[in-house]
Amino acid sequence: MLKTRASLQNIKPYKPGKPIEELVREYGISGEVLKLASNENPLGASPKALAALSHVLQEVHIYPDNSCYALLNRLSEVHQTPANHIIVGNGSVEIILQAALTYLDSSKQAIMSATSFVMYPIATHIAGAEPVTIPIKDDRHDLEAILAAVNKKTGIIFLDNPNNPLGSVLKRKEMDDFIERVPDHVLVVIDEAYYEYVGSMDYPHSLHYIHNGRNVLVLRTFSKIYGLAGLRVGYGFSRPEIISAFSKVRLPFSVNRPGQIAAVAAVGDEDHRDRSRAMNEQGKMFLGKEFERLGLKYIPPYGNFMFVRFPCEAAAVHEALERRGIIVRPVGQKDALRITIGTPQQNKRLLKAIEETLEGKEAENCKLDENSE
Ligand SMILES: Cc1ncc(COP(=O)(O)O)c(C=O)c1O
Repeated sequence: MLKTRASLQNIKPYKPGKPIEELVREYGISGEVLKLASNENPLGASPKALAALSHVLQEVHIYPDNSCYALLNRLSEVHQTPANHIIVGNGSVEIILQAALTYLDSSKQAIMSATSFVMYPIATHIAGAEPVTIPIKDDRHDLEAILAAVNKKTGIIFLDNPNNPLGSVLKRKEMDDFIERVPDHVLVVIDEAYYEYVGSMDYPHSLHYIHNGRNVLVLRTFSKIYGLAGLRVGYGFSRPEIISAFSKVRLPFSVNRPGQIAAVAAVGDEDHRDRSRAMNEQGKMFLGKEFERLGLKYIPPYGNFMFVRFPCEAAAVHEALERRGIIVRPVGQKDALRITIGTPQQNKRLLKAIEETLEGKEAENCKLDENSE
């Protein structure tokens, strides 16, 4: 009998936010569907990237540049880091998988928080290794417990900062102290997919760890603030030995030509980045105030999404929102939804739908206690 590899039996395939087409099919929705489930940029792609893409259709018969030369050099310039310290991938998920395939095998473990980006345990299982999950403490990574779980078998520690789905961050001092204490046989993957949104003075300078010779891989992406999720371009920084080891497990031409061209143009589009960040800040403030007015608790957000708690199983709210044509993400905890911050108009529509749901019959057991703070 044909049998899959044993380690694959533990994998629950990655489940993305529900596609708009699927919601339309399920509920026969006629109006505009609002997707606030995948932390995409509601302003769309950088206009500079779109302009750069206008000639690309004529070139799709040519393989992309396997070395991603232009993009590596642009990133090197902007981040003042030599190009041999940088890697580009088919989304940062490709680099997560490369890290697992390079540093894990069936004798190894990878440590991650129980509530964090779902690709970490998947990549660990694909590599045949064992994920060790550490409970979240006070809505944040529990760094002490993570350190206590390190042993000879540990190959990788995955840390998303901000955390997805919680949106909380680790501050510079605590990350500095943590990195100092991680032993040399472990690669720390610091996943900064929402880096550009954070805007906190206290955020770690994670590239310093690499410049100081630590075994750290820092991940960033063009999928979030740059608005290029559909083109699949992520990147990372690490020591040259680590970057060159990854090339052994990389598929040829994994970063497509339109993606490389758009990313080169997007890096320099500060105007689009600033507008996206400002709109996100406004959205955070607006939704924060409104959630408070409704008596809903949320974790102070550092990315472009909010983790909102409901006084009931959030599945009822999730379904009620879907009936109103709004897709959000039930993830992490039973009483919570992760909601991407939208444009001002989208945020208002979301809020009206949540209010209607809490007032209506659909989520009857989700009534707020009169005295809830
Ligand atoms: C923490 C984190 N890392 C990585 C990714 C994946 O990004 P990419 O589109 O670059 O593969 C996401 C996407 O949601 C994320 O939240």
